[in-house]
Amino acid sequence: MNKKLSRKELKDKYDIDMWSEDKIALFQTTLLKWYDQEKRDLPWRRTSDPYKIWISEIMLQQTRVDTVIAYYINFLETFPDINHLAEADDDILLKVWEGLGYYSRVRNMKEAAIQVVTHYNGIFPNSYEEIKKLKGIGPYTAGAVSSIAFQQAEPAVDGNLMRVLSRLFEIDVDIAKPASRKVFEAVMYHIIDQNRPGDFNQALMDLGATICTPKNYDPSISPVKEFNASYINETYLNYPIKSKKKKKKIVNYFAILIQNDKGEYLLEKRHEDRLLANMWTFPLIEEQVSSQDSGWKSFEDSDLYELNDVKQDLLIKYVKQKYGLNINLDKQSSGRISHVFTHLHWNIYAYRANARNSIEAIPSNCEWVNETKFDEYVFPVLQQKIWKSSQEITLL
Ligand code: ADE
Repeated sequence: MNKKLSRKELKDKYDIDMWSEDKIALFQTTLLKWYDQEKRDLPWRRTSDPYKIWISEIMLQQTRVDTVIAYYINFLETFPDINHLAEADDDILLKVWEGLGYYSRVRNMKEAAIQVVTHYNGIFPNSYEEIKKLKGIGPYTAGAVSSIAFQQAEPAVDGNLMRVLSRLFEIDVDIAKPASRKVFEAVMYHIIDQNRPGDFNQALMDLGATICTPKNYDPSISPVKEFNASYINETYLNYPIKSKKKKKKIVNYFAILIQNDKGEYLLEKRHEDRLLANMWTFPLIEEQVSSQDSGWKSFEDSDLYELNDVKQDLLIKYVKQKYGLNINLDKQSSGRISHVFTHLHWNIYAYRANARNSIEAIPSNCEWVNETKFDEYVFPVLQQKIWKSSQEITLL
């Protein structure tokens, strides 16, 4: 299947003036020469193993290159190949991902590893189309892995690449819209280097990370400035075009740090169907849920730091009902943190409490844990934040 649009189609459909073949060739040479001299020395660039490249690409979608390096090394020590990942213990899997966020990604990775073992004899598929069939792998990851590991001339279009290309070609589509990706893919099918597609993709990634940055962009220092239409026409401040994201829904939560008479904390393993599935947190109680049927209207923001008698009482009753514990609950909050998910923004207000009788039975997904043992449990980032904030002396 030929995925490349003609120049005329590019112009008619997307109003993009594609360069001449000579100019494309010169761009490839210039960019790759710069990459050969300046490329960052990264562990996943010393391998052509598709498994390792795939792991690195998923991690790189979550966080910065500097942070990924340690996670990458640890992940591969724990799961050195696809068979190990397919057989991974779920708790160990979450533990190696702890702190990276978007935990569904690592669960999908295990599913994909099982697919490779079951349907491909444990050998990573070597074409874009087959790779894209694996669980959790979309066009970006399929493009990155097939180009870097198998030298397939496939684009790997993410937000950074869209920024780079929109400046190079003065592309006027909104990069916040998912449908825009195909415009950039169409450009890439014209300009990607057929002999070194993986390096070409990574060179554009490096350019986006080091020179063609979102902020403080100075096109005059770019190795490819002569090719940059927005630099030549002095329009570069207009690119990329990116509409503001929709506001996230805000949800208030209480985190209750309940200690028993041994000083241990109550931790709860979250249900596998919920956000932060299978990870451990202090009891987290959604404000709406705990106040249901009570006539209690949503908190005013200032109320949240200090509970009044009615609110304190409702929480105590809720904890009794859900966790089977009688508690003494502080009125004064011990810390506030906020945490952002893809579509949600959580404000979490932490309160300390003591269980009056620690031999009371607790639900089967809960445990009393000494803080010296916390590192044996998988904590999502927000739990780490709650714990850290409760350790700081705060004047609210
Ligand atoms: N960001 C995403 N993939 C990358 C890679 N292979 N190298 C550097 N930065 C990246």
